[in-house]
Amino acid sequence: MYKWIWAILLSVTGVSFCLGQHLEGCPALLETTDGEQVTSIRQWERIRRPEIKELFATQIYGVDPCAKVKTTYRVIEEDSEAFDGKATRRQVRITFAANGMEHTADLLLYIPNGKEKRVPVILGLNFKGNYATTSDPAVLITERWVKGINHRAADSLRGCTSSRWPYERALERGYAVATIYNGDFFPDHVDGYAGSVLPMLYAGSRVPDSARMKAVGAWAWGLSRAVDYFEKVPELNARQVMLLGHSRLGKAALWAGASDQRFAVVVSNESGSTGASLARHKKGESVSRINSRYPYWFADNYKKYNDREFDLPVDQHMLLALMAPRPLYVGSASQDLWADPSNELRSARLCGEVYRLYGLQPLAWDREELPSVNTPIQQGTVAYHLREGRHGITAYDWEQYMDFADKYFK
Ligand code: GCU
Repeated sequence: MYKWIWAILLSVTGVSFCLGQHLEGCPALLETTDGEQVTSIRQWERIRRPEIKELFATQIYGVDPCAKVKTTYRVIEEDSEAFDGKATRRQVRITFAANGMEHTADLLLYIPNGKEKRVPVILGLNFKGNYATTSDPAVLITERWVKGINHRAADSLRGCTSSRWPYERALERGYAVATIYNGDFFPDHVDGYAGSVLPMLYAGSRVPDSARMKAVGAWAWGLSRAVDYFEKVPELNARQVMLLGHSRLGKAALWAGASDQRFAVVVSNESGSTGASLARHKKGESVSRINSRYPYWFADNYKKYNDREFDLPVDQHMLLALMAPRPLYVGSASQDLWADPSNELRSARLCGEVYRLYGLQPLAWDREELPSVNTPIQQGTVAYHLREGRHGITAYDWEQYMDFADKYFK
Protein backbone atom coordinates (compact mmCIF):
# COMPACT_ATOMS: atom_id res chain seq x y z
CA MET A 1 0.00 0.00 0.00
CA TYR A 2 2.67 2.51 1.09
CA LYS A 3 4.65 1.53 -1.94
CA TRP A 4 1.87 2.74 -4.19
CA ILE A 5 1.41 5.97 -2.29
CA TRP A 6 5.15 6.55 -2.75
CA ALA A 7 4.92 5.62 -6.40
CA ILE A 8 2.15 8.15 -7.00
CA LEU A 9 3.96 10.84 -5.04
CA LEU A 10 7.18 10.22 -6.86
CA SER A 11 5.63 10.13 -10.29
CA VAL A 12 3.82 13.40 -9.55
CA THR A 13 7.16 14.92 -8.61
CA GLY A 14 8.62 13.58 -11.82
CA VAL A 15 10.80 10.90 -10.23
CA SER A 16 10.08 7.44 -11.50
CA PHE A 17 10.92 4.20 -9.74
CA CYS A 18 10.20 0.60 -10.53
CA LEU A 19 8.58 -0.59 -7.37
CA GLY A 20 8.13 -4.03 -5.99
CA GLN A 21 9.41 -5.66 -9.13
CA HIS A 22 10.39 -9.25 -8.93
CA LEU A 23 11.98 -11.45 -11.53
CA GLU A 24 9.68 -14.34 -12.15
CA GLY A 25 11.21 -17.73 -11.34
CA CYS A 26 14.19 -16.23 -9.52
CA PRO A 27 14.96 -16.23 -5.80
CA ALA A 28 14.11 -12.84 -4.32
CA LEU A 29 16.89 -10.31 -4.16
CA LEU A 30 15.90 -9.12 -0.70
CA GLU A 31 15.15 -12.41 1.00
CA THR A 32 17.87 -14.43 2.72
CA THR A 33 18.24 -18.14 2.09
CA ASP A 34 16.65 -18.61 5.53
CA GLY A 35 13.55 -16.84 4.26
CA GLU A 36 14.09 -13.62 6.17
CA GLN A 37 13.05 -10.35 4.51
CA VAL A 38 15.90 -7.89 4.15
CA THR A 39 14.69 -4.47 5.23
CA SER A 40 17.86 -2.80 6.48
CA ILE A 41 21.28 -1.92 5.12
CA ARG A 42 22.77 -3.89 7.97
CA GLN A 43 20.96 -7.11 6.99
CA TRP A 44 21.90 -6.53 3.39
CA GLU A 45 25.57 -5.97 4.13
CA ARG A 46 25.93 -8.67 6.77
CA ILE A 47 23.75 -11.44 5.39
CA ARG A 48 22.25 -11.13 1.96
CA ARG A 49 25.11 -9.42 0.11
CA PRO A 50 27.68 -12.03 1.22
CA GLU A 51 25.23 -14.83 0.34
CA ILE A 52 24.71 -13.52 -3.17
CA LYS A 53 28.39 -12.86 -3.70
CA GLU A 54 29.22 -16.40 -2.63
CA LEU A 55 26.67 -17.83 -5.06
CA PHE A 56 28.14 -15.87 -7.95
CA ALA A 57 31.63 -17.00 -6.95
CA THR A 58 30.90 -20.71 -6.56
CA GLN A 59 28.37 -21.07 -9.39
CA ILE A 60 29.56 -18.64 -12.05
CA TYR A 61 32.78 -16.62 -11.84
CA GLY A 62 34.91 -18.81 -9.58
CA VAL A 63 36.28 -18.57 -6.08
CA ASP A 64 39.39 -16.49 -5.47
CA PRO A 65 41.87 -18.73 -3.62
CA CYS A 66 43.23 -15.62 -1.85
CA ALA A 67 46.82 -16.66 -2.46
CA LYS A 68 49.50 -14.68 -0.66
CA VAL A 69 50.97 -12.72 -3.51
CA LYS A 70 54.06 -10.56 -3.31
CA THR A 71 53.78 -7.74 -5.79
CA THR A 72 56.48 -5.45 -7.13
CA TYR A 73 56.17 -2.52 -9.51
CA ARG A 74 58.84 -1.34 -11.91
CA VAL A 75 58.43 1.71 -14.12
CA ILE A 76 59.80 0.51 -17.44
CA GLU A 77 59.12 3.67 -19.40
CA GLU A 78 57.99 7.17 -18.56
CA ASP A 79 57.62 10.43 -20.46
CA SER A 80 56.12 13.66 -19.18
CA GLU A 81 55.58 14.98 -22.71
CA ALA A 82 53.02 12.49 -24.00
CA PHE A 83 50.25 13.77 -26.30
CA ASP A 84 52.13 17.04 -27.00
CA GLY A 85 52.86 17.63 -23.36
CA LYS A 86 49.29 17.17 -22.18
CA ALA A 87 50.04 14.05 -20.21
CA THR A 88 52.60 11.88 -18.53
CA ARG A 89 52.79 8.37 -19.88
CA ARG A 90 54.01 5.66 -17.55
CA GLN A 91 54.40 1.98 -18.31
CA VAL A 92 54.71 -0.21 -15.30
CA ARG A 93 55.66 -3.87 -15.14
CA ILE A 94 53.86 -5.52 -12.25
CA THR A 95 55.41 -8.75 -11.04
CA PHE A 96 53.35 -11.13 -8.93
CA ALA A 97 55.07 -13.88 -6.98
CA ALA A 98 53.27 -16.66 -5.13
CA ASN A 99 53.72 -20.35 -4.44
CA GLY A 100 57.21 -20.30 -5.93
CA MET A 101 55.99 -18.95 -9.28
CA GLU A 102 55.97 -15.56 -10.98
CA HIS A 103 53.70 -13.77 -13.40
CA THR A 104 53.84 -10.29 -14.91
CA ALA A 105 51.40 -7.73 -16.32
CA ASP A 106 52.15 -4.40 -18.01
CA LEU A 107 50.07 -1.40 -17.09
CA LEU A 108 49.85 1.65 -19.33
CA LEU A 109 48.90 4.86 -17.57
CA TYR A 110 48.32 8.39 -18.84
CA ILE A 111 48.07 11.14 -16.23
CA PRO A 112 46.97 14.66 -17.19
CA ASN A 113 49.75 17.19 -16.55
CA GLY A 114 49.51 20.34 -14.49
CA LYS A 115 46.90 19.22 -11.95
CA GLU A 116 47.26 20.33 -8.37
CA LYS A 117 45.07 17.67 -6.86
CA ARG A 118 45.04 13.92 -7.25
CA VAL A 119 43.04 13.00 -10.33
CA PRO A 120 40.29 10.40 -10.82
CA VAL A 121 41.18 7.37 -12.91
CA ILE A 122 39.34 5.44 -15.61
CA LEU A 123 40.47 1.83 -15.70
CA GLY A 124 39.70 -0.86 -18.24
CA LEU A 125 41.32 -3.96 -19.66
CA ASN A 126 41.89 -4.14 -23.40
CA PHE A 127 41.50 -6.97 -25.92
CA LYS A 128 44.63 -6.74 -28.10
CA GLY A 129 47.50 -5.31 -26.11
CA ASN A 130 48.22 -1.82 -24.77
CA TYR A 131 49.95 -0.84 -28.00
CA ALA A 132 46.72 -1.50 -29.93
CA THR A 133 44.82 1.11 -27.89
CA THR A 134 46.81 4.09 -29.19
CA SER A 135 49.00 5.18 -32.06
CA ASP A 136 51.45 6.61 -29.49
CA PRO A 137 54.68 4.98 -30.81
CA ALA A 138 56.26 4.68 -27.36
CA VAL A 139 53.77 2.15 -26.06
CA LEU A 140 55.47 -1.21 -25.77
CA ILE A 141 54.34 -4.05 -27.99
CA THR A 142 53.08 -7.04 -26.05
CA GLU A 143 55.08 -10.22 -26.34
CA ARG A 144 52.22 -12.40 -25.25
CA TRP A 145 49.83 -14.50 -27.28
CA VAL A 146 47.38 -12.36 -29.24
CA LYS A 147 44.49 -13.27 -31.52
CA GLY A 148 45.54 -13.41 -35.18
CA ILE A 149 47.41 -15.55 -37.66
CA ASN A 150 50.68 -16.26 -35.87
CA HIS A 151 49.56 -15.04 -32.44
CA ARG A 152 52.33 -12.44 -32.27
CA ALA A 153 51.65 -8.73 -31.95
CA ALA A 154 52.82 -6.65 -34.91
CA ASP A 155 53.65 -2.97 -35.20
CA SER A 156 51.23 -2.74 -38.13
CA LEU A 157 48.42 -3.20 -35.61
CA ARG A 158 49.52 -0.34 -33.39
CA GLY A 159 46.50 1.79 -32.55
CA CYS A 160 44.06 -0.57 -34.27
CA THR A 161 41.57 -0.24 -31.39
CA SER A 162 42.24 3.44 -30.69
CA SER A 163 38.65 4.46 -31.47
CA ARG A 164 37.73 2.57 -28.30
CA TRP A 165 40.24 4.54 -26.21
CA PRO A 166 39.70 8.30 -26.50
CA TYR A 167 42.65 9.04 -24.20
CA GLU A 168 43.13 12.66 -25.17
CA ARG A 169 39.50 13.51 -24.54
CA ALA A 170 39.52 11.82 -21.13
CA LEU A 171 42.75 13.61 -20.20
CA GLU A 172 41.22 16.91 -21.30
CA ARG A 173 38.29 16.18 -18.99
CA GLY A 174 40.71 15.69 -16.09
CA TYR A 175 40.86 11.90 -15.95
CA ALA A 176 43.88 9.66 -15.85
CA VAL A 177 43.37 6.51 -17.90
CA ALA A 178 44.92 3.12 -17.26
CA THR A 179 44.74 -0.13 -19.16
CA ILE A 180 46.23 -3.62 -19.15
CA TYR A 181 45.98 -6.29 -21.84
CA ASN A 182 43.50 -8.96 -20.71
CA GLY A 183 45.90 -11.59 -22.08
CA ASP A 184 48.38 -10.61 -19.36
CA PHE A 185 46.05 -12.32 -16.87
CA PHE A 186 44.44 -14.98 -19.06
CA PRO A 187 45.06 -15.34 -22.80
CA ASP A 188 41.61 -15.39 -24.36
CA HIS A 189 41.56 -18.87 -25.90
CA VAL A 190 40.54 -22.34 -24.90
CA ASP A 191 44.05 -23.39 -23.85
CA GLY A 192 44.80 -20.09 -22.15
CA TYR A 193 44.93 -21.48 -18.62
CA ALA A 194 48.59 -22.51 -18.67
CA GLY A 195 49.71 -19.02 -19.68
CA SER A 196 47.41 -17.34 -17.19
CA VAL A 197 47.97 -16.13 -13.65
CA LEU A 198 45.76 -18.94 -12.31
CA PRO A 199 48.24 -21.85 -11.98
CA MET A 200 50.23 -19.57 -9.66
CA LEU A 201 47.20 -18.46 -7.66
CA TYR A 202 45.69 -21.95 -7.27
CA ALA A 203 48.87 -23.87 -6.48
CA GLY A 204 48.09 -25.85 -3.34
CA SER A 205 44.57 -24.40 -3.09
CA ARG A 206 41.65 -26.39 -1.73
CA VAL A 207 39.05 -24.66 -3.88
CA PRO A 208 37.28 -27.51 -5.73
CA ASP A 209 38.05 -27.67 -9.45
CA SER A 210 34.42 -27.04 -10.38
CA ALA A 211 34.38 -23.72 -8.51
CA ARG A 212 37.66 -22.30 -9.80
CA MET A 213 37.98 -19.06 -11.70
CA LYS A 214 38.79 -19.12 -15.35
CA ALA A 215 39.33 -16.26 -17.79
CA VAL A 216 36.66 -13.85 -16.54
CA GLY A 217 37.66 -14.45 -12.91
CA ALA A 218 41.33 -13.93 -13.75
CA TRP A 219 40.55 -10.68 -15.60
CA ALA A 220 38.57 -9.42 -12.62
CA TRP A 221 41.43 -10.37 -10.29
CA GLY A 222 43.79 -8.37 -12.48
CA LEU A 223 41.58 -5.27 -12.32
CA SER A 224 41.86 -5.22 -8.56
CA ARG A 225 45.64 -5.44 -8.83
CA ALA A 226 45.60 -2.23 -10.86
CA VAL A 227 43.86 -0.48 -7.95
CA ASP A 228 46.55 -1.82 -5.59
CA TYR A 229 49.00 0.07 -7.77
CA PHE A 230 46.91 3.28 -7.96
CA GLU A 231 46.97 3.41 -4.17
CA LYS A 232 50.73 3.93 -4.39
CA VAL A 233 50.70 6.68 -7.02
CA PRO A 234 50.67 10.20 -5.57
CA GLU A 235 49.10 11.82 -8.67
CA LEU A 236 46.06 9.50 -8.60
CA ASN A 237 42.98 9.44 -6.45
CA ALA A 238 42.50 5.73 -5.83
CA ARG A 239 39.13 6.44 -4.24
CA GLN A 240 37.87 7.78 -7.52
CA VAL A 241 38.33 4.91 -9.90
CA MET A 242 35.74 4.42 -12.61
CA LEU A 243 35.97 0.86 -13.85
CA LEU A 244 34.88 0.52 -17.44
CA GLY A 245 34.52 -2.76 -19.31
CA HIS A 246 33.20 -3.58 -22.74
CA SER A 247 31.54 -6.86 -23.63
CA ARG A 248 33.48 -9.86 -22.20
CA LEU A 249 35.57 -7.33 -20.35
CA GLY A 250 32.32 -5.76 -19.10
CA LYS A 251 31.45 -9.11 -17.54
CA ALA A 252 34.85 -9.06 -15.85
CA ALA A 253 34.34 -5.44 -14.76
CA LEU A 254 31.04 -6.29 -13.10
CA TRP A 255 32.52 -9.22 -11.24
CA ALA A 256 35.50 -7.09 -10.19
CA GLY A 257 33.14 -4.33 -9.02
CA ALA A 258 31.16 -6.87 -7.01
CA SER A 259 34.25 -8.43 -5.47
CA ASP A 260 36.16 -5.25 -4.69
CA GLN A 261 34.38 -2.22 -3.33
CA ARG A 262 37.30 0.10 -3.99
CA PHE A 263 35.89 0.66 -7.49
CA ALA A 264 33.93 3.87 -6.97
CA VAL A 265 31.90 3.80 -10.19
CA VAL A 266 31.30 0.70 -12.31
CA VAL A 267 30.39 0.75 -15.99
CA SER A 268 29.19 -2.20 -18.02
CA ASN A 269 29.26 -1.49 -21.74
CA GLU A 270 27.25 -4.09 -23.65
CA SER A 271 28.34 -6.89 -21.34
CA GLY A 272 25.34 -9.03 -22.31
CA SER A 273 25.15 -12.68 -21.29
CA THR A 274 26.60 -13.32 -17.82
CA GLY A 275 27.24 -9.60 -17.64
CA ALA A 276 24.45 -7.09 -17.11
CA SER A 277 21.81 -9.03 -19.03
CA LEU A 278 19.42 -11.31 -17.15
CA ALA A 279 19.82 -15.01 -17.88
CA ARG A 280 16.10 -15.71 -17.52
CA HIS A 281 14.07 -14.89 -20.64
CA LYS A 282 17.25 -13.87 -22.41
CA LYS A 283 17.26 -13.39 -26.17
CA GLY A 284 20.48 -13.74 -28.12
CA GLU A 285 23.26 -15.49 -26.25
CA SER A 286 22.06 -17.97 -23.61
CA VAL A 287 23.94 -19.69 -20.79
CA SER A 288 24.42 -22.84 -22.85
CA ARG A 289 25.68 -20.91 -25.87
CA ILE A 290 28.21 -18.92 -23.91
CA ASN A 291 29.41 -22.03 -22.09
CA SER A 292 29.80 -24.06 -25.24
CA ARG A 293 31.57 -21.37 -27.23
CA TYR A 294 33.67 -20.11 -24.31
CA PRO A 295 34.08 -23.08 -21.95
CA TYR A 296 37.17 -21.39 -20.47
CA TRP A 297 35.49 -18.17 -19.28
CA PHE A 298 33.51 -19.25 -16.21
CA ALA A 299 33.75 -21.80 -13.42
CA ASP A 300 32.79 -25.31 -14.51
CA ASN A 301 29.80 -25.23 -12.15
CA TYR A 302 28.15 -22.73 -14.47
CA LYS A 303 27.71 -25.46 -17.10
CA LYS A 304 25.13 -27.11 -14.83
CA TYR A 305 22.77 -24.33 -15.85
CA ASN A 306 22.99 -24.90 -19.60
CA ASP A 307 19.36 -24.76 -20.79
CA ARG A 308 18.36 -24.54 -17.13
CA GLU A 309 18.51 -20.82 -16.42
CA PHE A 310 15.56 -21.14 -14.08
CA ASP A 311 17.62 -23.32 -11.75
CA LEU A 312 20.16 -20.57 -11.19
CA PRO A 313 20.10 -19.42 -7.56
CA VAL A 314 20.78 -15.86 -8.77
CA ASP A 315 20.28 -13.72 -11.83
CA GLN A 316 22.35 -10.87 -13.16
CA HIS A 317 20.38 -8.02 -11.54
CA MET A 318 21.69 -9.46 -8.26
CA LEU A 319 25.22 -8.99 -9.53
CA LEU A 320 24.38 -5.38 -10.38
CA ALA A 321 22.91 -4.97 -6.89
CA LEU A 322 26.32 -5.85 -5.42
CA MET A 323 27.58 -2.48 -6.74
CA ALA A 324 25.20 -0.59 -4.43
CA PRO A 325 25.46 2.00 -3.06
CA ARG A 326 28.12 2.92 -5.63
CA PRO A 327 27.07 4.51 -8.92
CA LEU A 328 26.52 2.01 -11.71
CA TYR A 329 26.06 2.62 -15.43
CA VAL A 330 24.74 0.05 -17.89
CA GLY A 331 25.20 0.89 -21.57
CA SER A 332 23.56 -1.02 -24.45
CA ALA A 333 23.55 -0.56 -28.23
CA SER A 334 20.40 -0.70 -30.32
CA GLN A 335 21.66 -3.33 -32.78
CA ASP A 336 23.42 -5.45 -30.19
CA LEU A 337 20.70 -8.09 -29.97
CA TRP A 338 23.18 -10.78 -28.96
CA ALA A 339 23.65 -8.91 -25.65
CA ASP A 340 19.88 -8.21 -25.47
CA PRO A 341 19.41 -4.52 -24.55
CA SER A 342 15.90 -5.11 -23.14
CA ASN A 343 17.23 -7.62 -20.69
CA GLU A 344 20.13 -5.35 -19.76
CA LEU A 345 17.60 -2.61 -19.05
CA ARG A 346 15.40 -4.90 -16.93
CA SER A 347 18.37 -5.97 -14.92
CA ALA A 348 19.42 -2.35 -14.34
CA ARG A 349 15.88 -1.60 -13.14
CA LEU A 350 15.57 -4.65 -10.90
CA CYS A 351 18.79 -4.01 -8.99
CA GLY A 352 17.18 -0.76 -7.85
CA GLU A 353 15.63 -2.49 -4.83
CA VAL A 354 19.00 -2.43 -3.12
CA TYR A 355 19.76 1.17 -4.05
CA ARG A 356 16.41 2.10 -2.54
CA LEU A 357 17.40 0.37 0.66
CA TYR A 358 20.27 2.87 0.85
CA GLY A 359 17.83 5.72 0.26
CA LEU A 360 19.25 6.30 -3.22
CA GLN A 361 17.36 6.90 -6.38
CA PRO A 362 17.59 3.82 -8.62
CA LEU A 363 17.31 3.96 -12.41
CA ALA A 364 14.99 6.81 -13.30
CA TRP A 365 13.16 4.76 -15.91
CA ASP A 366 10.31 2.55 -14.75
CA ARG A 367 9.11 1.13 -18.05
CA GLU A 368 9.68 -2.14 -19.82
CA GLU A 369 10.22 -0.39 -23.16
CA LEU A 370 13.66 0.78 -24.03
CA PRO A 371 14.24 4.52 -23.91
CA SER A 372 14.88 6.25 -27.26
CA VAL A 373 18.34 5.83 -28.67
CA ASN A 374 21.01 8.29 -27.54
CA THR A 375 18.87 9.51 -24.63
CA PRO A 376 20.87 8.70 -21.50
CA ILE A 377 18.96 8.22 -18.25
CA GLN A 378 21.43 9.50 -15.69
CA GLN A 379 19.35 11.06 -12.91
CA GLY A 380 19.59 8.09 -10.54
CA THR A 381 22.55 6.31 -8.98
CA VAL A 382 21.95 3.63 -11.61
CA ALA A 383 22.17 4.97 -15.15
CA TYR A 384 21.37 3.49 -18.55
CA HIS A 385 21.63 4.38 -22.20
CA LEU A 386 20.85 2.78 -25.51
CA ARG A 387 23.38 4.01 -28.02
CA GLU A 388 22.30 3.82 -31.60
CA GLY A 389 24.28 1.28 -33.58
CA ARG A 390 26.27 -1.88 -33.29
CA HIS A 391 28.17 -3.72 -30.62
CA GLY A 392 31.25 -1.69 -29.70
CA ILE A 393 32.42 1.08 -27.43
CA THR A 394 32.54 4.53 -28.92
CA ALA A 395 33.46 8.10 -28.06
CA TYR A 396 29.75 8.67 -27.44
CA ASP A 397 29.69 5.95 -24.77
CA TRP A 398 32.78 7.35 -23.06
CA GLU A 399 31.30 10.85 -23.05
CA GLN A 400 28.19 9.59 -21.19
CA TYR A 401 30.24 7.62 -18.68
CA MET A 402 32.45 10.62 -17.96
CA ASP A 403 29.40 12.90 -17.56
CA PHE A 404 28.03 10.44 -15.03
CA ALA A 405 31.33 10.07 -13.15
CA ASP A 406 31.76 13.87 -13.05
CA LYS A 407 28.66 14.08 -10.85
CA TYR A 408 30.38 11.98 -8.21
CA PHE A 409 34.01 12.97 -8.62
CA LYS A 410 33.98 16.70 -9.28
C1 GCU B 1 31.00 -12.76 -28.15
C2 GCU B 1 30.40 -13.39 -26.92
C3 GCU B 1 29.86 -12.35 -25.95
C4 GCU B 1 30.93 -11.31 -25.67
C5 GCU B 1 31.44 -10.74 -26.97
C6 GCU B 1 32.60 -9.76 -26.81
O1 GCU B 1 30.00 -12.19 -28.94
O2 GCU B 1 29.40 -14.29 -27.33
O3 GCU B 1 29.45 -12.94 -24.75
O4 GCU B 1 30.41 -10.31 -24.83
O5 GCU B 1 31.93 -11.79 -27.77
O6 GCU B 1 33.36 -9.86 -25.87
O7 GCU B 1 32.75 -8.92 -27.71
